[in-house]
Amino acid sequence: MSKLRVTIYGEEILRKKARFVKNYDKRLKKLIDDMFQTMYAENGIGLAAPQVNVQRKVIVIDTQQEGEKFALVNPKILWKSEETETMNEGCLSIPGVEGDVVRAKSIRFKYNHPDTGEEKEMEASDLLARVVQHETDHLNGVLFIDHLSEKDRVSQSRILDELAVV
Ligand code: NI
Repeated sequence: MSKLRVTIYGEEILRKKARFVKNYDKRLKKLIDDMFQTMYAENGIGLAAPQVNVQRKVIVIDTQQEGEKFALVNPKILWKSEETETMNEGCLSIPGVEGDVVRAKSIRFKYNHPDTGEEKEMEASDLLARVVQHETDHLNGVLFIDHLSEKDRVSQSRILDELAVV
């Protein structure tokens, strides 16, 4: 396993759509292992492949709660509850920035099992639902700052400008 470099706000890959994964091979397994190692090294609870400079639909999650450690391939959200929840979010690719994001409290999503490619469906609520929404956004080139209120975005715009210059 190796720890990978985390891409930072301003790098183009974070705004691109990730590609559908078709092959369940050694390369995918290694990517997932490396993503877990990178996420743990950075003290994150979720990481999407574009954050390690790989344009593929793969995310890893570990909320540190029992039974909430997953690698999801080709995740797609099928349903979002009308009920929402507001929580403070950050992102390993946007260091130093945080803000309140409103997201669906519960979701249902599908994904492919990372070993077999078998299609599965799952429901999630609260923190897990939030992380799946945040990471799935990454696969569509969407960042949590896109969901901030105008006021919060303006107040953090200087940090964002500085990050993007690097
Ligand atoms: Ni993120």
